[in-house]
Amino acid sequence: MKNMSQTLYYQNELDAIKKSNRFRTRKLYNPTLIDLASNDYLGLGNKEKLFKKAYQLLTKEASFSPKSSLLVNGYHKIHKKFEEILAKENNFEQGIIIGSGFLANISLIEGLVRKKDCLFIDKEYHASGIVASKLVDNVITFSHNDFMDLENKIKIYRETNTKGRIIIAIEGVYSMGGDIAPREFANISEKYDALLIVDEAHSSGVIGENLLGWYDYHHITIKPNHIKMGTLGKAYGSYGAYILASNHIITFLENRAKAIIYTTAPSLFDITLGYISFLYIIKNKEKLKKKIKERKEIVKRMLGVEIQTLILPIVIDNNIEVIRIQEALEKEKFAIGAIRQPTVPKAILRIILKLDIEKKDLKKLFILLQSYNINKQP
Ligand SMILES: Cc1ncc(COP(=O)(O)O)c(C=O)c1O
Repeated sequence: MKNMSQTLYYQNELDAIKKSNRFRTRKLYNPTLIDLASNDYLGLGNKEKLFKKAYQLLTKEASFSPKSSLLVNGYHKIHKKFEEILAKENNFEQGIIIGSGFLANISLIEGLVRKKDCLFIDKEYHASGIVASKLVDNVITFSHNDFMDLENKIKIYRETNTKGRIIIAIEGVYSMGGDIAPREFANISEKYDALLIVDEAHSSGVIGENLLGWYDYHHITIKPNHIKMGTLGKAYGSYGAYILASNHIITFLENRAKAIIYTTAPSLFDITLGYISFLYIIKNKEKLKKKIKERKEIVKRMLGVEIQTLILPIVIDNNIEVIRIQEALEKEKFAIGAIRQPTVPKAILRIILKLDIEKKDLKKLFILLQSYNINKQP
């Protein structure tokens, strides 16, 4: 066989990525490192008890494979049970599970934004939403978390476009900055009778009185124009996603969203694990909230920074330096995210204050960071 690595179709592009110090590679991390890089916010991914419960629940079933699309015969009673409890706890009429958050954003945007409609999307919305927005006709971006910019743009748009739906897309908590979207987005959506999509990948399980996320945090009464998307790959310690909305919108998605219809139903084990984790969070929410609060207090006390969630971004603004610090911390047994462009405009260290990390280890890390003399403003 011809040596495959002799035919290099993308060498110029790869060279350019390397030249700008943006080259990435998937690597196997040493599992003994103290993990402050992953999105498993509550540390549920290490709880063997939850894994075993999910396994036991699923072994009672006749089949373990999702087999086909939800719309053929891939829909399973565990899928349904999970959708029902998600909808009930979050006060939405209905839910639908979906393979991943990436697919959920494709479904929502490609499915709901029809020809005469216009999508208003936060400039820093997740890449999956940005990819999906390329599939629709009318898209307007607004400045990050800037509801006044959004309102101005809606007003200007409505001067010449009186027909068609307005659909707003925001994240509850932004994955890189850890900042929470202001409540005003809900007020604006109501004022202009717009649909509001909230990507709760990083807010579900982390903020709100019941740890349910953005709507819960702002005490927003759920209305027919509200849509929530959440993932299982972060605080819920599994893989997969869900969409919650009114009966009518879920029915429409079932009939129109290609990333729901033309794909195999979500993995049964992953959904079962997400379901078990969700029950665990509901049951233990007070204990978890206390631990979240403690971690925020340590950051405030030791670094003088107030964070709103469990994400601590530290701007380094130098692609070489950020990797150097990440490697230095790895030698001290800490795994920390080093995020570069195009994910963020300026390189950051992204530290996740996971609840399974002992407070003494967090303190040790912060002492190390202090010795690096870097700007700690989020
Ligand atoms: C804000 C946001 N939305 C959507 C996704 C995609 O979710 P998933 O990993 O389940 O595909 C992610 C990250 O992965 C995310 O950070």
